[in-house]
Amino acid sequence: MDFGKAIRKDFPIYGRYAGTGLFCYLDSAATSLKPRVVIDAVKEYYEAYSTNVHRAAYSLAERATEEYEGVRAMVAQLIHAPRADEIIFTRNTTESFNMLARTYAEHFIKTGEGILLTEMEHHGNLIPWQELARRKGITLHFIPIDSATGALVWDAATFGTFLKERNIKLISLTHVSNVLGTINPIAKIAAIAHEAGVIVAVDGAQSAPHLPINVQDLGADFFAFSSHKMLGPTGIGILWGRYELLEKMPVFMVGGHMIDDVMSTRATYRAPPLKFEAGTPNIAGTIGFGAAVKYLMDLGMDNVRDHEKMLLTAARHRLADIPGISFLGPMDAEDRSGVLAFTLAGVHPHDIGSLCNEAGVMIRVGDHCARPLHKKLGIPASCRASFSVYNDMDDIELFADVLKTVQKKLSAIPVSLSHDAVSAGNN
Ligand SMILES: Cc1ncc(COP(=O)(O)O)c(C=O)c1O
Repeated sequence: MDFGKAIRKDFPIYGRYAGTGLFCYLDSAATSLKPRVVIDAVKEYYEAYSTNVHRAAYSLAERATEEYEGVRAMVAQLIHAPRADEIIFTRNTTESFNMLARTYAEHFIKTGEGILLTEMEHHGNLIPWQELARRKGITLHFIPIDSATGALVWDAATFGTFLKERNIKLISLTHVSNVLGTINPIAKIAAIAHEAGVIVAVDGAQSAPHLPINVQDLGADFFAFSSHKMLGPTGIGILWGRYELLEKMPVFMVGGHMIDDVMSTRATYRAPPLKFEAGTPNIAGTIGFGAAVKYLMDLGMDNVRDHEKMLLTAARHRLADIPGISFLGPMDAEDRSGVLAFTLAGVHPHDIGSLCNEAGVMIRVGDHCARPLHKKLGIPASCRASFSVYNDMDDIELFADVLKTVQKKLSAIPVSLSHDAVSAGNN
């Protein structure tokens, strides 16, 4: 599937840089570009009905509430959640995991019990669990990865016993690695976890923008992702959870909007999802996200996946003969999504990033907020190109040409003179 150049008319930022030859955006895993429909939806809210939600005594506020709540239904449709009231609006994936750690896990996981993560987690799905473990005396365990293939090393035959022996109560793992691109076998892991009575939380930050998602088929109990990585505004994220779990979960932030009744010394709270949404929410961001979800659903998530698979395959093929290049993660585009990370022997990723930038090619360099994974791979940093619906074969050609020139230039410089700061990178 090739969306073609026509799609770029939908993204005003391409118009801004048209003719400069300096706009090859390959960093959508950090954040995506925004289509006109998203910008217009946000503008329309501010210009035409910028009122609060859930307090409608007049028609403009009624419209705001309808639009805001309508997004919940669209997101539920996108990820095939059974109910719209299972969709909680947060700020981003990171906040979704903080909420989960502070509410469900804090309440239901006891001292001495275990939580299972993987070695490929983004800090957003690692640090909240580290803090919880420290506070409550919970042990963190990690499914290892195979550095060569980028796959999780786990054995379906013994996994149930492993979970019981380690007293694991919750698995929290990424659907797609933001460095390796690996698509993890969530459904298989979740099926065994559920037999062992273990809850499964999935980090969908890098899968929801790129793959058709069905949380029921995945067997997830919780699923978290961010609007800004899937064509929507910043400052809005999702935590989906099975309704019976959300009902049991204690509240997170407290205050206005989320209360049922308030006495002077105590309060009762609304039903999910509102009990998790204290204070005035990000109304404009949510409405903009609704426009992004509709845009993606109109394109068709199967088509999005096919388009990106084509780009990944082409990029890997075009870069393969660059001297010293090593790709991270699985070989086959079938097993990976969205990102293509790599190192060049003897050349620091930061130098590559700077020279690419001079040629208008925007890639990410650093540890991409996955420092333990880079330590496991024995590298301080890597380069990462990542794709979305607006990228095309011209981007791949330009990127490959620029990278070839950069490699020639930098390999002529003795390593001792090249940039050797260890990255602090992010996202
Ligand atoms: C796999 C993964 N998880 C979590 C996050 C955190 O997302 P956010 O910064 O939107 O909270 C990211 C961001 O890059 C990510 O790639």
